Amino acid sequence: MRKVIIAPSILSANFATLKYDLKMIEDSEAKWVHIDVMDGHFVTNITVGPLVVKSLRNVTKLLFDVHLMITNPERYWREFQKVGADLITFHAEVLTDKKKLIDDIKSSGIKVGISINPKTSISDIEYLIPYIDLVLVMTVNPGFGGQSFIKDMVCKIKDLRKIIDKNSYNCFIEVDGGINSRTASVCINAGADVLVSGSYIFSAENPRLAIKSLLM
Ligand code: DX5
Ligand code: ZN
Repeated sequence: MRKVIIAPSILSANFATLKYDLKMIEDSEAKWVHIDVMDGHFVTNITVGPLVVKSLRNVTKLLFDVHLMITNPERYWREFQKVGADLITFHAEVLTDKKKLIDDIKSSGIKVGISINPKTSISDIEYLIPYIDLVLVMTVNPGFGGQSFIKDMVCKIKDLRKIIDKNSYNCFIEVDGGINSRTASVCINAGADVLVSGSYIFSAENPRLAIKSLLM
């Protein structure tokens, strides 16, 4: 049985009290925190930068899963690495020379992932899977929390699982967007290793129980 990891997305948390939300995550069954970085260019929304990550790093040891939804990850990734990102994921759609960025991030000593939008196919990144730690399958169009899971992405997760298992690649499959207790089990059955979830967890009366429900 694969061990599934939950990565709560703080995009849906209360930014005035993030410290307490991190504490809640520490006391839950989740061990990662998903941090959505948006630049108002690759996506229409703007969120947080390295300064916020730096402040959060001072108050928790949770794994920082930094999802860069930005046009120039090659220009900004190092800022996030310096302030404590453990894993940096960039979007396949923004770069031609993805291998160079993968090598740069890995040689800094942290993990690297590639994310694909719903319209991007696996074949665009398949040749890179041997070199990366994680593929992030977007199950909504990136930019905002609270959207509905795109069911067609289940086949993508299954296809990726087959490729990774067949070649014994050491690469996680992470899913992001519209994850709740129902879609979580669909993704786990399809082969996902890491589930990002924002609005489902942070709008729940008991976020810790909501996290638990994703694993059932
Ligand atoms: C969306 C972000 C997600 C977002 C998920 O572009 O990448 O991480 O926080 O939010 P929910 O779980 O509400 O769909
Ligand atoms: Zn995300």
